[in-house]
Amino acid sequence: MTTPLLLPSEPFTSLDQYLLAGGGEGWRTALDAGPDAVLAALKTSGLRGRGGAGFPVGRKWASIRAGRPDVGPRFVVANGAEGEPGTFKDRPLLRRNPYQVIEGLAIAATVIGAAQAFIAVKRTFEPEIEALTRALKEMAEAELLCDAPITLVTGPEEYLFGEEKALLEVVEGKEPLPRLYPPYVQGLYGTASESGWEASPELMGFDPDAPVSNPTLATNVETLANVPVIVSRGAEWFRTLGTEQSPGVVICTVVGDVVHDGFGEVELGTPLREVIERIGGGPRPGREIKAVLSGVANPVLTADQLDTPVSYEGMKEAGTGLGSCGFIVYDETADMVSVARSVSRFLSVESCGQCPPCKLGTMAISERLERIANAEGTEHDVMEIGGWLGRVSDANRCYLGEEEQRVISSLLRAFPEEFAAHLEGAPPAEWVPIPKIVDIVDGRAAYDPKQILKRPDWTYADAEWQYPHGSA
Ligand SMILES: Cc1cc2nc3c(=O)[nH]c(=O)nc-3n(C[C@H](O)[C@H](O)[C@H](O)COP(=O)(O)O)c2cc1C
Ligand code: SF4
Repeated sequence: MTTPLLLPSEPFTSLDQYLLAGGGEGWRTALDAGPDAVLAALKTSGLRGRGGAGFPVGRKWASIRAGRPDVGPRFVVANGAEGEPGTFKDRPLLRRNPYQVIEGLAIAATVIGAAQAFIAVKRTFEPEIEALTRALKEMAEAELLCDAPITLVTGPEEYLFGEEKALLEVVEGKEPLPRLYPPYVQGLYGTASESGWEASPELMGFDPDAPVSNPTLATNVETLANVPVIVSRGAEWFRTLGTEQSPGVVICTVVGDVVHDGFGEVELGTPLREVIERIGGGPRPGREIKAVLSGVANPVLTADQLDTPVSYEGMKEAGTGLGSCGFIVYDETADMVSVARSVSRFLSVESCGQCPPCKLGTMAISERLERIANAEGTEHDVMEIGGWLGRVSDANRCYLGEEEQRVISSLLRAFPEEFAAHLEGAPPAEWVPIPKIVDIVDGRAAYDPKQILKRPDWTYADAEWQYPHGSA
């Protein structure tokens, strides 16, 4: 593949540059063709959401557009909260090409008939906020935006901010605590009785006595950036890229035990080994890859699975998932018990505690992994972990408990000898930092140094705090 579809090699620093490169064509075509034609193109294109779950985009948009008038106004929220460990793909996209994301958002708002559109990023994402603010202003001046007003929303550091039901809470000015129902059932400022959460009708001037559910399209920013390309160049052309079930391209991140950390656009279906070579330069000299995690949401891939195609179906067949294509690479020097401890600690700290099995389970598993990693564990700890892994996702509002279940179970299954070694007296394992990426500069990813200071109640310990039992 030659010309990138999403991520230009140099950032677009003005709308003129974007238009010269062919930008804006999707918006014009969408206006001429009308919503039904756009929806048909999206369905034919086979585009799937890039936020993690891979849901078909055409079906998602159509279900929201189809809402009856009495369900209330519709909304769209572009999810740029990017908090998945090992993932740094939405931020480069927003920095280099905010115009294409906003163009996709304008098309989405028009097709679903949204009353308002939002684009949400973390308030620490300063370069992205700057790029989006500039692009929104330029595009408004050039009359390249939808009728629905587009508002830039900034939110907190929490992992859950990116979860779609928590995302809506943040847009409403609240804490990132996932609601009960998905955004297409209970959208922004909804007041319908099945909501089960505190709604804020007064913020929008709605009548609280006329309940509405306000179906809302919550979708990832990379997903939206694909839309103008599909609309302008056609679904059939889009399908010439990628595979039958995973058409198109995807922005991948590669970090960890590789020559250099990085991100890049690849065609779906490319073998994982090639993605690691192209973006990360492959394993470090003389080293061998032992394991790869796609964020902290899916089971681990082992050395014998490196030829797995980076596609939805390829990853499924390998017993895992594509997630947000943030690949964390571990070579033979990595201690997988320590990796499990870091992942579990991250999830237990980030769990919001609304569902007891999730918060209690992730914390109990973390404590036991800590004991095992410190050579203080017993078989009883392993049994307790097994018990909690069976329950940690019970009755949960969001997918976080299931992430713990999927990742930690897979590490126990794939590396039993490493757990056994720690039970049999191997020295305490050093801490492996969780790759919550702040930036990637000159081939090196910087991880958030504050994450290890974060406590389960989302406060922070003071900076003098040290990793217990070893250094990172
Ligand atoms: C704990 C958690 C964190 C998430 N974080 C993000 C995120 O940072 N960005 C994102 O786009 N989706 C994130 N998601 C997925 C969203 O809930 C949602 O599926 C996605 O934004 C839908 O967009 P798509 O249909 O375009 O893929 C997260 C999900 C969970 C369970
Ligand atoms: S599953 Fe966990 S993170 Fe998600 S809402 Fe429940 S307690 Fe919070």
